[in-house]
Amino acid sequence: MFFLLLLQSFLVSTSASSTTSLLNQTETLLKWKASLDDQSQSFLSSWVGNNPCNWVGIACDRVGSVSNISLSNFGLKGTLDNLNFLAFPNLIHFDVGNNSLYGDIPSDIVNMSKLTFFNLSANGNFSGNIPKDIGRLSSLTVLDIAWSQLNGSLPVSVVNLSNLSYLAVAGNNLSGSLPQEIGMMSSVIILFLHLNSFTGPIPASIGNLSNCQHLFLSENELSVIILFLHLNSFTGPIPASIGNLSNCQHLSLFENELSGSIPSEIGRLSSLIELILDNNQLSGPIPVEMNNLTVLGSLQLGYNQLTGHVPDKICHGGSLEYLAVNRNHLTGPIPRSLRNCTTLYRARLEENQLEENISEAFGIYLNLDFIDLSDNKLYGELSPNWGLCQNLTNLQISNNKVSGRIPPELAQATQLTRLDLSLNQLSGEIPKEIGKLTTLAYLLLNDNQLFGRIPPEIGNLVNLQQLSLAKNKLVGPIPEQLGNCFRLLHLNLSNNLIEESIPSEISKIFALESLDLSWNKLTGEIPQELGGSRVLEMLNLSHNMLSGFIPPTFDELKSLTYVNISYNQLEGPIPPIKAFLLAPFDALRDNKGLCGNAIGLLHCVSEGQKKSTSGLIKECRLQDLFAIWGYDGKILYENILEATEQFNSNYCIGSRGYGNVYKAALTTGRVVAMKKLNPSDDNQSSN
Ligand SMILES: *[C@@H]1O[C@H](CO)[C@@H](O)[C@H](O)[C@H]1NC(C)=O
Ligand SMILES: *[C@@H]1O[C@H](CO)[C@@H](O)[C@H](O)[C@H]1NC(C)=O
Ligand SMILES: *[C@@H]1O[C@H](CO)[C@@H](O)[C@H](O)[C@H]1NC(C)=O
Ligand SMILES: *[C@@H]1O[C@H](CO)[C@@H](O)[C@H](O)[C@H]1NC(C)=O
Ligand SMILES: *[C@@H]1O[C@H](CO)[C@@H](O)[C@H](O)[C@H]1NC(C)=O
Ligand SMILES: *[C@@H]1O[C@H](CO)[C@@H](O)[C@H](O)[C@H]1NC(C)=O
Ligand SMILES: *[C@@H]1O[C@H](CO)[C@@H](O)[C@H](O)[C@H]1NC(C)=O
Ligand SMILES: *[C@@H]1O[C@H](CO)[C@@H](O)[C@H](O)[C@H]1NC(C)=O
Ligand SMILES: *[C@@H]1O[C@H](CO)[C@@H](O)[C@H](O)[C@H]1NC(C)=O
Ligand SMILES: *[C@@H]1O[C@H](CO)[C@@H](O)[C@H](O)[C@H]1NC(C)=O
Ligand SMILES: *[C@@H]1O[C@H](CO)[C@@H](O)[C@H](O)[C@H]1NC(C)=O
Ligand SMILES: *[C@@H]1O[C@H](CO)[C@@H](O)[C@H](O)[C@H]1NC(C)=O
Repeated sequence: MFFLLLLQSFLVSTSASSTTSLLNQTETLLKWKASLDDQSQSFLSSWVGNNPCNWVGIACDRVGSVSNISLSNFGLKGTLDNLNFLAFPNLIHFDVGNNSLYGDIPSDIVNMSKLTFFNLSANGNFSGNIPKDIGRLSSLTVLDIAWSQLNGSLPVSVVNLSNLSYLAVAGNNLSGSLPQEIGMMSSVIILFLHLNSFTGPIPASIGNLSNCQHLFLSENELSVIILFLHLNSFTGPIPASIGNLSNCQHLSLFENELSGSIPSEIGRLSSLIELILDNNQLSGPIPVEMNNLTVLGSLQLGYNQLTGHVPDKICHGGSLEYLAVNRNHLTGPIPRSLRNCTTLYRARLEENQLEENISEAFGIYLNLDFIDLSDNKLYGELSPNWGLCQNLTNLQISNNKVSGRIPPELAQATQLTRLDLSLNQLSGEIPKEIGKLTTLAYLLLNDNQLFGRIPPEIGNLVNLQQLSLAKNKLVGPIPEQLGNCFRLLHLNLSNNLIEESIPSEISKIFALESLDLSWNKLTGEIPQELGGSRVLEMLNLSHNMLSGFIPPTFDELKSLTYVNISYNQLEGPIPPIKAFLLAPFDALRDNKGLCGNAIGLLHCVSEGQKKSTSGLIKECRLQDLFAIWGYDGKILYENILEATEQFNSNYCIGSRGYGNVYKAALTTGRVVAMKKLNPSDDNQSSN
């Protein structure tokens, strides 16, 4: 008993201040808890009593003072306004990442001189500015205040955070320029400044982020390894000093407004794994020194104004996975090192002026997922080796000068979802093996010199969304199997030599939004099933030899916004839907006899404006109808009655919303179509 009393008095006497401060800390934490929403309070249900050192998320130091507040991923909702930091003079670790906290960063935080770890990241709604004096937190090693709504600038005082190794302010609304002396943060290893609104130049001092000031640590541990400045508005050149960051592995500057040329010093970053400079205004050549970047896995330089050649040994180190130099002004051959670049996963070289025989430029890439070579000057024949790229989903070689046949072996690349060989000089037949590419969503072979028939096997491509075989020399019929491609949105077979009639199976493609069969040799009537679509927006059947009437089902094509049926032998009334009624004459011209209420078309004549018990007859004018018009209306009416055997349903060629349409061969030898309006419609129709 005596011993215990002694012990107790010892404790009281030696840590009186820490006991009172613990009381204060308890109260401070409970006050903060009470300020959070009800659900947050339930997550902190262990926060009761007077010993916070046992509470969830709280840890104390040896003298019993709160040193650690770790509440990440707790789902807390509220502000930090009621958390008086001054009550925690020994706080070294504060982590409330990934909650729903909001409001200002408390300015008292800058007084926490022992704080080494501070994380407010991923709360989404912290607002206001970063405290100007943040540089007073001289012990900080981790400052993570990313992914919120912070605005204002990055305070100049951060340059005093000489022990900081991790600085993340990404994903805020920070603006202004970076502190010129940013290079003073000599311990920084990871710098995430991306996705803000920073402006001005990238300070040259950034090259000092490699300075080895602490001799007791190796250089490796002290120079920047990740530098992300992308998605800001930085201007001016990339400072040559960046070449000093010899340990840098990830350098990302994409989507800024950087100009000038890529400094050749970049070739000194021999540890670079990832270099992303795309979407800037960089010009000049890609420095050959980049051949030195032998561990490079990802090089993205797209969407700039770079000229000259792609460094020939870019895959020399044998680790390149992602190469993007698309949308520049690059010339010359494909880098030779790409031939053996077995690691290649993604390659974007499109929209340059690269010139080389495509059959020799590439190898076999078992990892390749995506390659776009479009809009270059590649020539030669397609290698069957592309078929060996088992993981290839995207092969785009559009708009080059590739010739020869489409190798049937291509169909071994069964993962393909997009095959675009359009705008080349390919010839020969479309290999029927293409029907094995059942995951294809886009098949674009237009603007080549392909001949032969469309292989019915294309009907196996049930995932197709877009098929264009336009501008080739294809013959034969449209295979009815095409109707199995029921996911097609866009079908373009125009400008070929395709014959026979349009198969009604096309109407099974219920998703079809655009159908272009123009400039072919199609005959027969338009299948009435085509009018069953609810989504067709664009229909071009012009320049064929289609005949007969436009099916009455077309009255229901309400989604149609563009139609062209010119240069056929169609006759009869146009459907009373916007696309037709508002169509320019050029979209309807040169048919055998269309009528209706559209520009340049003769009206379908209402005959015998008088009413009769059998209803009002509207008779459609043919182009040479004036002869008939000369008739006495009554005689015409009787002629029609006779020709249709009193409107026998045998002569009914369809039903429109407001009456039936009949086809009548008059005794004069003329064929006319007419609508017999329902008697109930007479009042509206007779004026
Ligand atoms: C604080 O707590 C977290 C989570 O329990 C732990 O990871 C971290 O090491 C602690 N830090 C200190 C300085 O005690
Ligand atoms: C964020 O916290 C929630 C719980 O509040 C958790 O479900 C989620 O996985 C966390 N997110 C991350 C990225 O850790
Ligand atoms: C707790 O301590 C802080 C800092 O010393 C002081 O400002 C605050 O008034 C104290 N709170 C209580 C409830 O004693
Ligand atoms: C900060 O917290 C977030 C959310 O929990 C986490 O994703 C992130 O890695 C943390 N930052 C550091 C440097 O640990
Ligand atoms: C931020 O605030 C908005 C609006 O109050 C809210 O919808 C959103 O969920 C908040 N974000 C987070 C991560 O809590
Ligand atoms: C906290 O820091 C601010 C600004 O640096 C200073 O004015 C204030 O006196 C400090 N407060 C305490 C209690 O140390
Ligand atoms: C910075 O880090 C070094 C090495 O860990 C340490 O000795 C020094 O005390 C730290 N400086 C501050 C202000 O915490
Ligand atoms: C920061 O945002 C607040 C509103 O959250 C606004 O009042 C203030 O003017 C903004 N400051 C700057 C520098 O943009
Ligand atoms: C950095 O710290 C020094 C020494 O404490 C101080 O004189 C200077 O004003 C600080 N710089 C900034 C930008 O805060
Ligand atoms: C980089 O490449 C250039 C020319 O390709 C060469 O002269 C230079 O020595 C290399 N530099 C380094 C650091 O390897
Ligand atoms: C590519 O690989 C083949 C076979 O492994 C080898 O013979 C050839 O020399 C290599 N070519 C280049 C340019 O590395
Ligand atoms: C193809 O992709 C799969 C899944 O992404 C991967 O596991 C596999 O290794 C790849 N195959 C080859 C030959 O690279």
